Amino acid sequence: MDKFIIAGNGPLHGEIDASGAKNAALPILCASLLSDEPLHVSNVPKLWDVNTTRKLLLQMGCAVEQPTPHEMVIDAKPITTCVAPYELVKTMRASILVLGPLVAARGEAHVSLPGGCAIGARPVNLHLMGLEAMGAEIKLEGGFIHAYARKLKGARIVFDTVTVTGTENLMMAATLAEGETVLENAAREPEVVDLARCLRAMGARISGEGTTTIRVQGVAALHAAQHSVLPDRIETGSYLVAGAATRGRVRVNKTDPAMLDAVLVKLQQAGGKIATGPDFIEVDMQGKRPLAVNIHTMPHPGFPTDMQAQMMALNCLAEGVGVIKETIFENRFMHAQELLRLGADIRIEGNTAVITGKERLQAAPIMATDLRASASLVIAALAADGETFIDRIYHMDRGYEDIEGKFAALGARIKRVAKLM
Ligand code: EPZ
Repeated sequence: MDKFIIAGNGPLHGEIDASGAKNAALPILCASLLSDEPLHVSNVPKLWDVNTTRKLLLQMGCAVEQPTPHEMVIDAKPITTCVAPYELVKTMRASILVLGPLVAARGEAHVSLPGGCAIGARPVNLHLMGLEAMGAEIKLEGGFIHAYARKLKGARIVFDTVTVTGTENLMMAATLAEGETVLENAAREPEVVDLARCLRAMGARISGEGTTTIRVQGVAALHAAQHSVLPDRIETGSYLVAGAATRGRVRVNKTDPAMLDAVLVKLQQAGGKIATGPDFIEVDMQGKRPLAVNIHTMPHPGFPTDMQAQMMALNCLAEGVGVIKETIFENRFMHAQELLRLGADIRIEGNTAVITGKERLQAAPIMATDLRASASLVIAALAADGETFIDRIYHMDRGYEDIEGKFAALGARIKRVAKLM
């Protein structure tokens, strides 16, 4: 497994471009299963998870072309099987996003139950509840979800917990159902909105995306379309926090400040000077040590749970005490153990972490445990004295395109060492 060697090298300075959003690209690629005509997706990020989705679609029999590294054209017409096998699903839980489209467009789906992961149990009961409300027959057997429906019927579905992929799965299924589907307490994430835009380009009739109530009028079929994936707000936020934690100045281009209000408020509270334009965000710490901030993760537009680990790294180096409350996942403090190895002062009480900032952290060998935890460890290592080795960085390759290239453009000294074993 590859590892990173990162030398604490002072403040980051420079600018990078954001890539397309992983959490929009994944549902959008799966939406191709809803139509017998090609879906042309651009601004696709080059990530492991995108590659896994491509493999999943290929093994179903879809035709998948890549005119350029950041484009994919999927034609689901030649599909031969509606199975998402354990071997692929266990490496990427988001494979569950083929469930809604397959049942809606092909009348059946056999998707391996996505297990839990480092950050939590990650149940999919709300996905299944919604499909049953739309008339699907669901059976759990042999570790698989078997779902059947001759024709889904529109229904009113109330989510008792806000679920991003649950909202996306059922919004996709509803596009081909008979009649109207109303999703109440729907997720409002920008990635849900981007998926809705893509579905509309394919001929779906959707309104209310980005609010807590989404309405979908089913249509007989969807058609060919082109869609460009929106910028990745979590990648953007991760590099901005790296700039702030190292007391530097970082600008991210090809992004959208409107997606990161809650994060920008916190960076301002931490002492960052924020400048924004239609497609860029800059944070300038002016060489100052950041101030500790309190974080309470919430569904969008609240503070994103996917930025919690990165802000914990900033608090480890900040002036004062910062309190972080994680309300979305039950085990999303795995990075804390590794940050403690760098000399951080973190006290965990249930889903609350109390961090007392330190002027400096010290390099030590550490290990990534999940995708956003790995970003947190890189941020802390960039600000630590000495050379930090981070193991299992394949977690980071899942969600961050060209990590070394982007960090090097900001002046970081980061090297990937491929371990042969
Ligand atoms: C999406 O995961 C993202 N992944 C996650 O990003 C993100 O952390 C999460 O939303 C929250 O914003 C993708 O979009 C591919 P949820 P998802 O369903 O949809 C509970 C990353 O780092 N729940 O919104 O799986 C669940 O246990 C990843 O890019 C149920 O109880 O998350 C959790 O407590 C990590 N039953 C809460 O809802 C269900 O059927 C929110 O989960 C579904 C969810």
